[in-house]
Amino acid sequence: MTRLRGRSPVGPVRAAESSPGPPAQVPAPTPGPAEPPRAAADLRAAAAGPLAQRVSPKYLEEHCVLPLAVARSGELVVAAGAPLDPTVIDELCWTFERRVRLVEAPAAEIHAAILSAQSQAAPEVQASDLRGSDLVVLADEAETIDDLRALANQAPVIKLVNVLILEALRARASDIHLEAGADGLRVRYRIDGVLREISHPPRQYQAAVISRVKIMAGLNIAERRLAQDGRIRLRLSDRELDVRVSITPSLHGESVVLRILDRGAGVRDLAELGMPNRLLEDFQQLIRQPHGIILVTGPTGSGKTTTLYGALDRLNQPGVKIVTVEDPVEYQVAGTTQIPVNPKIGLTFAAALRSILRHDPDLIMVGEMRDRETAEIAIQAALTGHLVFSTLHTNDAPSGVTRMVDMGIEPYLVAATVLGILGQRLVRVVCYSCAEDFQPPPDVVTHAAAGQPDIPKPRFRRGKGCDACSGTGYRGRTGLYELMRMSEEQRALVVKRAPLAEVRALAQAQGMAPLRAAGWAKACAGITTLEEVLRVTRDEVLG
Ligand SMILES: Nc1ncnc2c1ncn2[C@@H]1O[C@H](COP(=O)(O)OP(=O)(O)OP(=O)(O)O)[C@@H](O)[C@H]1O
Ligand SMILES: [Mg+2]
Ligand SMILES: [Zn+2]
Repeated sequence: MTRLRGRSPVGPVRAAESSPGPPAQVPAPTPGPAEPPRAAADLRAAAAGPLAQRVSPKYLEEHCVLPLAVARSGELVVAAGAPLDPTVIDELCWTFERRVRLVEAPAAEIHAAILSAQSQAAPEVQASDLRGSDLVVLADEAETIDDLRALANQAPVIKLVNVLILEALRARASDIHLEAGADGLRVRYRIDGVLREISHPPRQYQAAVISRVKIMAGLNIAERRLAQDGRIRLRLSDRELDVRVSITPSLHGESVVLRILDRGAGVRDLAELGMPNRLLEDFQQLIRQPHGIILVTGPTGSGKTTTLYGALDRLNQPGVKIVTVEDPVEYQVAGTTQIPVNPKIGLTFAAALRSILRHDPDLIMVGEMRDRETAEIAIQAALTGHLVFSTLHTNDAPSGVTRMVDMGIEPYLVAATVLGILGQRLVRVVCYSCAEDFQPPPDVVTHAAAGQPDIPKPRFRRGKGCDACSGTGYRGRTGLYELMRMSEEQRALVVKRAPLAEVRALAQAQGMAPLRAAGWAKACAGITTLEEVLRVTRDEVLG
């Protein structure tokens, strides 16, 4: 404890001993001779105290200063982490109407103190039932020791990173983006598939925060020029979370994406995904076929894996052997064998698949058909009497078959094995708490309605924005689906390498309602908005 603590801070501000005037009249501050070094705890107390509150944290950070107390002499004692510009001293004299006495303190300690005061001040964090200390890092820490590590291991930095993760969980975010920019780190959360700006920790913390994430993920903190991937396993009370960490060097420093996988979260039932009844029935019938390939297509994060787990869950009975090969295993399902691929040790999708075929499973779920080799083994499995579920990154269902052919699979093999393809997207749902009826502009309606089935009395709704939806007007998501079943005619088209447009046209002629139509129906029912539907289907080819 330093001698300055315990004194009453300013109290009612006493009249300045030297009346503050223009900078020239301000007496030069006396540098603090033989001041005892400030303990970190004292700096933190000062940062949260009334003196510091009178100046913006941004200002304090920018100049690395922290007003500590008013000395008996009436001087304002200010901790400084670096030699100060005279104008800064003048500004402090003006603001506090006092002479300034500088004392030295480690710059990192000052920044940490300011940062910790800020994170303590965030009311949502205090109010939430999640506490930083509840978060236990399971991963072993790396061995490297240097300045960065020291910085990264400071309590405020640890707390800041924990709070970022906990707040992300509270906000139902799926990803945390820490992006390095010219003016420091930008923190964004992906909530319901859409990025939202959260905060801008000052530039000084950038390296410490990134290093902290690296330490948590067991990555090399000294490596700052190459991309690195890692994972953090966290336990929050009895919930186990798996956070995938991807670090990429960029112009202004490293950027990080943390993807949160909530392994404890249960599998969603197929009936809760938002499939219309007809389509749900058709899909359920499809997955009950004894062998063949069922594909789910859509862009990143469109809910493909969720659908496959829902399907797998329906088939998960004691008499059925189910094996999954994934990167990573996203949900744990009792009664199944789940294999995480690990290319680093040579356990690729293809290698894992080849090995599990010897276990003769009834159903195999392959996380993604990324390459020709994996697709070939999947086809082999289907031809030898197994049911295979997998995903492809294509815009719609009909593109699934053409993609397989483009990957180098013989069209007759695609035609012989693929049973059906489900194309999908996720749209945000209008917030239930603040929904209101709403008539979209006629041109928007006309544009969205073009080519869609006529829906007699559409009831469009939108969210005004409230606390429940953080002002966005949306809360939660639901799926849009299109199901293409492989009819005999469709197989014939595939075998003769018909162009995509023909495959699509036939699918629609045979009853496939395309994604846009699914979206139109949901917007007309007030579940989502036309804007959302257009947003997620804009790259879909119409017709
Ligand atoms: N029908 C749905 N309704 C609401 N939320 C959903 C639905 N389907 C999936 N989600 C949610 O959307 C997120 C992304 O889903 P999922 O991981 O299944 O997508 P994906 O297409 O497999 O992504 P990737 O391309 O990264 O593999 C998850 O948080 C999931 O819980
Ligand atoms: Mg997936
Ligand atoms: Zn709302």
